[in-house]
Amino acid sequence: MTRIDRADKKFKGTVLVAGATGRTGRWVVRRLQAHGIDYRLFVRTGSKAIEYFGPECTDRLVSGSIENQAELETATSGCSAVISAIGAYVTDPDAPPPSTIDRDGMSTFAKIARSNGVRRFIQVTSLAVTRPEHPMNNYGEVLSMKLQGENAIRSIYSRTGYSYTILRPGGLQDGEPFRHDLRFGTGDILTGVIDRSDLAEAAVVSLWHPKASNMTFELIRGEKKVCSSFEHYFEQLP
Ligand SMILES: NC(=O)c1ccc[n+]([C@@H]2O[C@H](COP(=O)([O-])OP(=O)(O)OC[C@H]3O[C@@H](n4cnc5c(N)ncnc54)[C@H](OP(=O)(O)O)[C@@H]3O)[C@@H](O)[C@H]2O)c1
Repeated sequence: MTRIDRADKKFKGTVLVAGATGRTGRWVVRRLQAHGIDYRLFVRTGSKAIEYFGPECTDRLVSGSIENQAELETATSGCSAVISAIGAYVTDPDAPPPSTIDRDGMSTFAKIARSNGVRRFIQVTSLAVTRPEHPMNNYGEVLSMKLQGENAIRSIYSRTGYSYTILRPGGLQDGEPFRHDLRFGTGDILTGVIDRSDLAEAAVVSLWHPKASNMTFELIRGEKKVCSSFEHYFEQLP
């Protein structure tokens, strides 16, 4: 894994990783570690976090659900940024629906984070959130719920001293990072796939890259190409 010297790290605060035991969240943690950035893990199941990150993660763990305001208060307290890769399990009939997680949960999370002084809020959503006719909307209107969650974050975080980034990835795959070119776009017109590892790296770079501030953008992978940094892809953004 590409490791960056701690002296060169570009973000100095503590990042709360929400959904840290999910497939993208796990990569966000690994990329924060690679950049030497301090983090906390917001997870529902502590034992799952210990399984993925080892017993040494115990001091960084905050247990809770995006549905519980008191747990969100505790989790965000003392953090300077959030990277959230939480999303509803749309094919599980026993799981809370997208209206609870992707719309209401996202909105409440952003409100509580801002009131606790968290300056940067970075959220992973999806391509096609602006397309109500998309077949994924047959699952609890998940894309439309994510769009409403995004709208809430944009509104809550558009305030002097605070900023957001919304990353809308294509279909998620599980390859290693830095093996493909990336394509960034706006206006929800891209289609394609991207590796969770590359999505995670782009979310981490969003912490400090000026082009990511108050930006909503789509991202997919392009040609196979070995690279070591994603900073230049952000220059494609308006
Ligand atoms: N799959 C795709 O092709 C695709 C494409 C575009 C965008 N997306 C979106 O990208 C994001 C990441 O996807 P992924 O496949 O990497 O995610 P994933 O593996 O399904 O993980 C989802 C995460 O959300 C957490 N979560 C769910 N309900 C929660 C709650 N009530 N409170 C706290 N955490 C909760 C889960 O916690 P646990 O670990 O405790 O279960 C898990 O960490 C999701 O928002 C997804 O909708 C997915």
